[in-house]
Amino acid sequence: MKVAVIGTGYVGLVTGTLLAEIGHDVTCIDIDEMKIELLKTGIPTIYEPGLEQLLKNNLEKQKLSFTTNHATAFQNVELVFMAVGTPQGENGQANLSYIEQAAKDIAQTIDHDVTVVIKSTVPPGTNDYVEQQILKNLIHPVKIHVVSNPEFLREGHAIEDAFHGDRIVIGSEQREAGDLVESLFAPLQIPIVRTDRRSAEMIKYAANAFLAVKISYMNEIANLCDAIGADVTAVADGMGMDKRIGRAFLNAGIGYGGSCFPKDTEAVVHLAKQQAMQLSIVESAIKTNKAQRHRFVEKVLRHFDGNLTNKKIAILGLAFKPNTDDMREAPSVTIIDELQKNGAIIHVFDPIVTNEYSAASLYDCVTKADAVLLVTEWQDFLHADWTEIGKLVKGKVIFDGRNALEADKLQQLGWTYIGVGRERKRVYGFQES
Ligand code: UGA
Repeated sequence: MKVAVIGTGYVGLVTGTLLAEIGHDVTCIDIDEMKIELLKTGIPTIYEPGLEQLLKNNLEKQKLSFTTNHATAFQNVELVFMAVGTPQGENGQANLSYIEQAAKDIAQTIDHDVTVVIKSTVPPGTNDYVEQQILKNLIHPVKIHVVSNPEFLREGHAIEDAFHGDRIVIGSEQREAGDLVESLFAPLQIPIVRTDRRSAEMIKYAANAFLAVKISYMNEIANLCDAIGADVTAVADGMGMDKRIGRAFLNAGIGYGGSCFPKDTEAVVHLAKQQAMQLSIVESAIKTNKAQRHRFVEKVLRHFDGNLTNKKIAILGLAFKPNTDDMREAPSVTIIDELQKNGAIIHVFDPIVTNEYSAASLYDCVTKADAVLLVTEWQDFLHADWTEIGKLVKGKVIFDGRNALEADKLQQLGWTYIGVGRERKRVYGFQES
């Protein structure tokens, strides 16, 4: 099928590449000329493992092309995907200005019947609104149907998720339009959920908010574990074996960041307020998440008896999670800021992201450090030579903000290990009980 994708951000670029890879003819559109020029030469504008190869292959096979021109992109297309950003607006609600612009561009350019598919995360009711807007502004008398198809991919695993997702959600008010989208994805053989548009939109918000709640719940349990002397990783393992709970997203730490959970939890809370309702569980999850970063800094402060003046702190990891260069809502920003306010001297290392405090290597970063903080659990850090690092630092104390390091091994190497919700281990050691 011939497809256009509006927006070459995370979702748009991965969707366009995926659709080309499964045999469709795809043109991606963006207003950013520099971005389009880079993409035309096969250079991805985001860091995502596996994307570059797929991009290059499909450019070569001429299944994928890039343009800034809507008319060129829309020629003979059966489907137009909207994959533009919906950033957080004032009061937490989603800012729909890019969606509105995309609707205008479609209305003013399209000269044949087409199905519009909204992939961007949008508040329930937006698909209805977009359909009305396009119909109202159409220049040519054509038929338009809007279908909701929310995206569930994770940054850093986007390619894997796109090809092996748990489900594809298709929300339509008109059966044939939904069928067309279903047939587009048929080669992937991923289970399909068919529903109405508002329910599809809600699935996305409800899923992200649930995952955020799951993380915050575990962070609260972790804080309690610290207080009572239990190990939250053992608690998570024990809980997670219950199939009704599941082990995924029970990892306590410094809380969630990124472009999705913080924004979508705020948006769903705002949505409820518009209905004169309160999503108190999600509101609490947001609050807990914000507090979790401060708690981590407090742990560092407590270790140094409240005085970080001129203490050299080595921060491992800047990105909000591994395998991405995304710094949106990254806990590292708040943590660095608070440590500096307390007089600490910051040195950082991240395999991909750099800032003004970046050292040339992990080993440079930790040299003469009074403490090491693991903020993003990149594999490079988990598999680093901690014996060697131990020789370079001044103080052998590691604060593991992700509970991702091998605590017992580190202790055997003479490190003081401080995790999140693992106070028992610090006090009693890591020998098997
Ligand atoms: C999330 C969802 O997982 C995707 O399904 C969704 O499509 C995406 O948002 C979106 O709405 O676009 P993403 O933000 O890329 O994906 O990353 P996740 O892997 O879900 O991690 C989100 C945050 O939660 C990270 O900061 C991570 O460190 C944190 N996290 C995750 C925890 O603190 N504990 C966990 O157990 C899991």
